[in-house]
Amino acid sequence: MNIILLGPPGAGKGTQAQRLQNDLGLVQLSTGDMLRAAVASGSALGQKAKGIMEAGKLVPDELMVGLIESRIGQPDAAKGFILDGFPRTEAQAAALDAMLAKSGKKLDKVIEMDVDEAALTERVVGRFTCAKCGTGYHNKFKRPKVDGICDVCGSKEFTRRKDDNADTMKTRMAAYRAQTEPLLPYYRAEGILKKVDGMAAMDEVYRQIRAVLAGA
Ligand code: AP5
Repeated sequence: MNIILLGPPGAGKGTQAQRLQNDLGLVQLSTGDMLRAAVASGSALGQKAKGIMEAGKLVPDELMVGLIESRIGQPDAAKGFILDGFPRTEAQAAALDAMLAKSGKKLDKVIEMDVDEAALTERVVGRFTCAKCGTGYHNKFKRPKVDGICDVCGSKEFTRRKDDNADTMKTRMAAYRAQTEPLLPYYRAEGILKKVDGMAAMDEVYRQIRAVLAGA
């Protein structure tokens, strides 16, 4: 099964994709995580992407399409994938259609995570991540069971993203509204778009996503 989680910054795409990956054996393909790894490694892609990401703007389509095309072709994606953060523009959506058609694959569902814009800044500004295993947390909505210790791997080191601040969120939201939201009617017209209530508690959002996938 191949799915897209679509929603604005902080909608919960990464949170739900991690859980789906663990439970369904689908691979999470997060373009944000891939770009952050490229920045950390100092690769040519990372050097190009760093300033753009810190400003909250979108990395050029040609870089993103190349990145996802090589990732989708890897063996672990053969049994199914969850796209988290891609596509984000009409050009990326068209390129995705073309690369799937070429490899005889298809999209089963696009899940729209419907959220109130007002809640997103609080979600994003309070987010932190285990530096060792990448598990995501939140100051208020998902604290580690023992303060300062990752539930999954026991690490005591956590990181916060540079773009997770109220100022950059304004640019990220503007990019979402202008360039990514127009994908909703595109996928609706294809009959594969389903909406879930992204304002619900995390477990309830997950339940709704699983119900959508059960009907896929
Ligand atoms: P990316 O990393 O994709 O960031 P994003 O889309 O802004 O999404 P986030 O990761 O911020 O949010 P999320 O929806 O995953 O929410 P999460 O689950 O963490 O992209 C970063 C940058 O990379 C972009 O700005 C761009 O520059 C570049 N980029 C990436 N892909 C690109 C592309 N295709 N094209 C061009 N450029 C690209 O949840 C957020 C917080 O809320 C967490 O702390 C979580 O615990 C909490 N939370 C989650 N669900 C709930 C809930 N139901 N209730 C309460 N709290 C919740």
